[in-house]
Amino acid sequence: MQVIQISKSFSEFVSERKNLSFLFFGGKGGVGKTAVAGAAAYYISEKLGRKVLISSTNPVHSLSSLFGQDLWKKGIQQVKGTKNLYAVEIDITSTIERYKAEIRERITQFLKFADIPVDVEPFVEIASTNPAFEESAMFDDILNLILDKKFDVYVFDTAPVAHTYRLLGMSKLYDLWLFRMVKSREEALSLRARLSFRKEKVMEELKKDPLLASLVSSRKKTEEGRRLLTDNQRTAFFFVTLPLALPIAVIERFIGWVEAFNIPVGGVIVNSVIPRSGEGKVSQYVSNKIKEQEGYLDTINTKFSGMVRALIPLYEREVTGIDMVSRMSEDLGKTNFAI
Ligand SMILES: Nc1ncnc2c1ncn2[C@@H]1O[C@H](COP(=O)(O)OP(=O)(O)OP(=O)(O)O)[C@@H](O)[C@H]1O
Ligand SMILES: [Mg+2]
Repeated sequence: MQVIQISKSFSEFVSERKNLSFLFFGGKGGVGKTAVAGAAAYYISEKLGRKVLISSTNPVHSLSSLFGQDLWKKGIQQVKGTKNLYAVEIDITSTIERYKAEIRERITQFLKFADIPVDVEPFVEIASTNPAFEESAMFDDILNLILDKKFDVYVFDTAPVAHTYRLLGMSKLYDLWLFRMVKSREEALSLRARLSFRKEKVMEELKKDPLLASLVSSRKKTEEGRRLLTDNQRTAFFFVTLPLALPIAVIERFIGWVEAFNIPVGGVIVNSVIPRSGEGKVSQYVSNKIKEQEGYLDTINTKFSGMVRALIPLYEREVTGIDMVSRMSEDLGKTNFAI
């Protein structure tokens, strides 16, 4: 029997942080991010009695299958069989449409202001076929959820690594872009005021300028979002891995990226550890797998020293339906992980 060193468990980590409001789960594809995010959301809502919203920003919608409840295109829904847990699957196509309309409006106003009589559509197409467009639309959705403050805790079941990385990177880029837009808009308007004989009127115009107002409010929103997401009392990014080489390598890299964006790291959750009980009676295959996992658990101990928050066993069946989510949440909440 092996005992992995856990200096602070997931349950200790979350109960110590009274203001913890935003939890993200990342990791390689298929390692159990959705299941663990669901178990964490369930744990916080049941054991800490907080009102929790779990949302999926993953284009492959999986919360419906996790909770065994149709959530697609239904907005925020209470999860059946829970007191305080809500879920939403973000429909990214409608977000993108809304986002396109917003950009169209901004470009139209910008061109009108500059007296440039051209068709706005090609500009909208260029802006929206940019590969970062989808991510930035999704980031906007996340911000809207975070800033409406209707829930105590928000759990984000994130998309696979590279996607999330771009999502985080976007927040910086997007903010920089908005900053430049606001600046150049202010400069253009104040130049107009200086050149005009009726300064007061133009200054009045500046104050009422809808494009500037909309840019300033977007910038305020991203700034507020980034302030919350970099606050280590409010935000924690968890990394889910299997005791296996590739998923370990992926989160090692991912932790570095997230730290570079000043996003607070919550820790590492090791999923699908084969239970040791019954060893000796198992097949050669299973006994080899157990040995292999032991090696990787040692690696995890060394690489993520002090960061491992929980070990979750490999169950005899998939994690679908509230009973399995509840079972996983019990394992996630343990403080002693002898396996
Ligand atoms: N500890 C476990 N025991 C048994 N099955 C598990 C366990 N954890 C996850 N699973 C199952 O493994 C599959 C993958 O899990 P999940 O969908 O949560 O992974 P994911 O990381 O979210 O995947 P994706 O990258 O595709 O979003 C699911 O069928 C899930 O029910
Ligand atoms: Mg998933």
